Amino acid sequence: MLPHLRSVVGLALAASASASALTVLADGSNSTCLAQDAIQTASLFTGQEADAAGIQPGQAKSLTDAANFINFCSEQTLTNGRQLPDGSCNGIPMGKIPAAKNMISALITKPLPGDRLVANVTFEILVQTRNLHAGIQTNPAVSYYNAPQDVDEDGYVLGHCHVVIEELDSLRTLIAPDPLKFVFFRGINDAGVGGLLRAEVTGGLPTGFYRVCTMVAASNHQPVVMPLAQRGGQNDCARFAVVDLAEDGGYRP
Ligand SMILES: *[C@@H]1O[C@H](CO)[C@@H](O)[C@H](O)[C@H]1NC(C)=O
Ligand SMILES: *[C@@H]1O[C@H](CO)[C@@H](O)[C@H](O)[C@H]1NC(C)=O
Repeated sequence: MLPHLRSVVGLALAASASASALTVLADGSNSTCLAQDAIQTASLFTGQEADAAGIQPGQAKSLTDAANFINFCSEQTLTNGRQLPDGSCNGIPMGKIPAAKNMISALITKPLPGDRLVANVTFEILVQTRNLHAGIQTNPAVSYYNAPQDVDEDGYVLGHCHVVIEELDSLRTLIAPDPLKFVFFRGINDAGVGGLLRAEVTGGLPTGFYRVCTMVAASNHQPVVMPLAQRGGQNDCARFAVVDLAEDGGYRP
């Protein structure tokens, strides 16, 4: 056990004798208490109260909590910085949300839709991003979803972009691909140039049909959170074919 955790436990045990729920951290602060000015009173309501603005038939009731759901994950498996394949509960706040003028978008500029790449030849993926402060990523093994989204001094979300390639039955497939199966994955960890990010697929891919997608993320790998519900996409996908040049006579994607 880490020394500061040991002292928290010790203090919590001492406090429980006096029936106090307060946990004082090793540095003497009350940092596990929710500050009064951080409480979001909208969470007191389901959003389906008769006088609620924007109410529409078919809407679900929101969960409610008087304290920002601060204990939502209590007695559950905590994400706690890990990628847990059986699922978990993450209690970290969503964090800082950019202004509408700084919302992120991305476009894959290579390969382009319908492109026919040559089998087993190295190619590059290019992603033109907008309003992403790229090049910031935390350790995904121990810091996954472990801190809120943050913005830089100019209000741009700090983060990075992943690219993933999945194989498809055809360019016009109607089958949603299985997210557990992909043929290429890369976190683009550099800041890029003018928002243009690049990943190399070394050795290329075998013949087939593929989809390449972006997954733009904040620093701790969470999908980026935006200020307006109705907006353009933060991500892009492009479908392309990989062909065997020698047999390409009758081949059409
Ligand atoms: C911690 O919270 C208690 C109860 O609200 C308060 O009396 C005490 O002054 C606080 N201590 C610090 C260091 O903020
Ligand atoms: C590409 O590489 C794969 C795996 O090595 C091989 O099976 C396939 O025949 C190659 N395709 C072409 C067109 O060279």
